[in-house]
This record gives sequence, C-alpha cells and structure tokens, in this order.
Amino acid sequence: MHPHQILNAIADLPRIPLAHKNTPIEEMPRLRAAIAESMDSDITAVPPLFIKRDDTTGFAFGGNKARHMEFLFAHLIERGIDTIVNINHYDSNNARLAAAASAKTGMKYHWVAFDELDAAIQGNMLIAHLTGANIHRIPKDETRPYAESLLAHETNLGRNPTILLDNAFSNIAGMIAFLETAHELENQIYRYSETPSRHSRESGNPGAGPTTQPLSPTDPIHFWGLCGRSIAGIILYARNTGKPWTATAVAQPHYTPENYQELYLDRSTRVAELLNLDTPLHPGDISTLTGYTKIYGIPTDLGIEAMHLVAQTEAIILDPTYTAKSMSALIAEIRLGKVDPDIPVVFIHSGGQPQTFAFADQIWNHNA
Ligand SMILES: Cc1ncc(COP(=O)(O)O)c(C=O)c1O
Repeated sequence: MHPHQILNAIADLPRIPLAHKNTPIEEMPRLRAAIAESMDSDITAVPPLFIKRDDTTGFAFGGNKARHMEFLFAHLIERGIDTIVNINHYDSNNARLAAAASAKTGMKYHWVAFDELDAAIQGNMLIAHLTGANIHRIPKDETRPYAESLLAHETNLGRNPTILLDNAFSNIAGMIAFLETAHELENQIYRYSETPSRHSRESGNPGAGPTTQPLSPTDPIHFWGLCGRSIAGIILYARNTGKPWTATAVAQPHYTPENYQELYLDRSTRVAELLNLDTPLHPGDISTLTGYTKIYGIPTDLGIEAMHLVAQTEAIILDPTYTAKSMSALIAEIRLGKVDPDIPVVFIHSGGQPQTFAFADQIWNHNA
C-alpha cells in the first residue's frame, strides 16, 4: 500500500503533540572504523552504521516514548480519564514520559514504582517528581493491590482514574507512532548520501562525513533496536509498503523469541485492523537476540564498554539499561561475523539517557 494511506489513517486518530519529530539520522563512520580496527579487519568487514536519534524528541529529556504518549494520552482523554496510575520499574522511561505527558495535559499521575526501593532519587524518578508525579515506592509483589487501592481512592474523590497497563491501547500506541517514524526513516536513509556533511566538504576529513555510497530505495536496510513496540512498528511499515527491510531486536530478560513473537503478532494484528493495513506482521519477521541484557535495569560490562566507545568515536551518549545493551549486542555480533557487512545498519537510539547519571560509579570506574 502507499505510505500516504498509512499516514492518513494515523492522521484520523486523536493525538496531542508532545515530541519533536523528524529526529535526525546520522552516520557513524568513526565507530565503524573503530570496530573494524578492533577486529584487525578492513572497514568493509563492518556494515555502514547509521543511528536514528530518537533520543532527541525533546519532551522531558526525550526518547521514543514521547511519540507513544501523543497517541496514548489523546486516547485516554477522549475516554474521559483524568487520573493515571502507572505500575512501573523504579527507573522506567515510560514512567518518566507518562509523568511528563500528565503534566502537559493536566492529568493527575501516580507512579507505583517497584524494585530498588532505597535507590537514590535520580534520573527518571527525579524528572517525574519535577513534573508533579505522586511517587509510591512499593515492593513488586504488592504493586497491584496498592494500585487498586489508589484507583478506589481516586474514584471516591469523584475522579475517573485508570491503571495504565490495563488499557489495551497502551500496548499498541508505540507501534502506531513508529509506523510514522518508519516513514521518516524512509525519507532520511535513502536521501542521506545526497547531502554530504558540511564538515567533510569543507575539511576534506573523511572521518567526519558520510562514507557510504548513495542508497537506492530497493536496497535492503537492517534495523537494530530493542524488543518492543518501536522496532515492530518499523517492520510493520516495511511489510505494508514493500520495503526490503529486516530487523534485529535485542531482548530484555523478560522476553524470549517465542513470547516476543506472540506479542508482535497480536499487537500488529490489532494495529492492522485499526488502521486498515494490508497485513500484520508474520512469524519470523523480526529476529530476536537474547543473552546480552542480563539483569533488567542493571548495566552490563559490555554495555558500558559500548557507551564509552560510541561516546568517544561519535559523541553520542547511550543509556546504560537499554541502548547501551542493544549497541553492545550489535558490536559483539559484528565481531562474531554474524551481521551482513553489505547491508547498512540503522541503530534506533530510543533515548533513556537520564538513567546515565544514576550509574555514574559503574561508568566512571569502567575506565579506571
Ligand atoms: C529507552 C528504551 N528503548 C527501548 C525500549 C523498548 O520498548 P519500546 O520499543 O516498546 O519503547 C524501551 C522500553 O521501555 C525504552 O525505555
């Protein structure tokens, strides 16, 4: 189907503008060269590497979920909801951006935050506090009854509350948002090499500018991100518009290839029905990679190494619990020869940097 049919269907959904969209795509030639050097190989052993800077969506420190919230909050407001109860991990990016979206739309917001009950107030939790969140730090196995009691309390006050994860739409809003992001990506990636960077033109420094040959719209692209709604939205767009795109999704420990596939099949079916798409996703549409993220919310050595390498070569800051782990998987798989060097890779930087400061010690000591 034509991309505009998808965009028009999205345009019919209720929406509240929150994110800065059309986030840039950048090439990472110095990271590519550093990986090749670490392999004692020629640059051609490493695919051309691009990064979609969705960390720069701007809204309350940005990230991909600023896009998701545009649809989710409009949907909830249309249903008369005025109070959100969000059960989420203490360092959740989703919880930060739901807090920010609540502030922006005048909703009351409760975050029932579990795990690491004594962790210092930092990162996402600090920003949620700034944006007016009511934060309740509760042991994980008590979160559901606690959230139910908040719901009852708010209802008694005459409000119309909801527990966020009980809304089916909250699972697909992000996939819808990334159908649109995929269209941005299509426009950016195939035109990227037509506009060499100012720096490379002026200085003749090949290290600072694009190094790839122009890409044509029939060229395959390999997207790399985390298991979730975003990467699934990109591939759903590709399947419906006939793009030769593939994706690798790095799994947090609660995902297996089987349960992630079940989720993306179910959610893409719901999105396809809602937006009248030609097709949902099919089994095998996204490759899932396990073993790299270890414990949820705890940085890995490989992830911190990737943070240093990407910052030192490209001055791009990854977050320690999502994108650093996804990047560490990409680097490791390239070194193992498992990533086709002839297909450009677009890494999705989905944000999350506020948590960088919560792990200052591990990041600092890594290079000590
Ligand atoms: C920074 C970041 N990246 C990626 C994800 C993966 O999920 P999704 O694509 O559904 O946002 C998350 C989920 O919490 C996240 O916080």
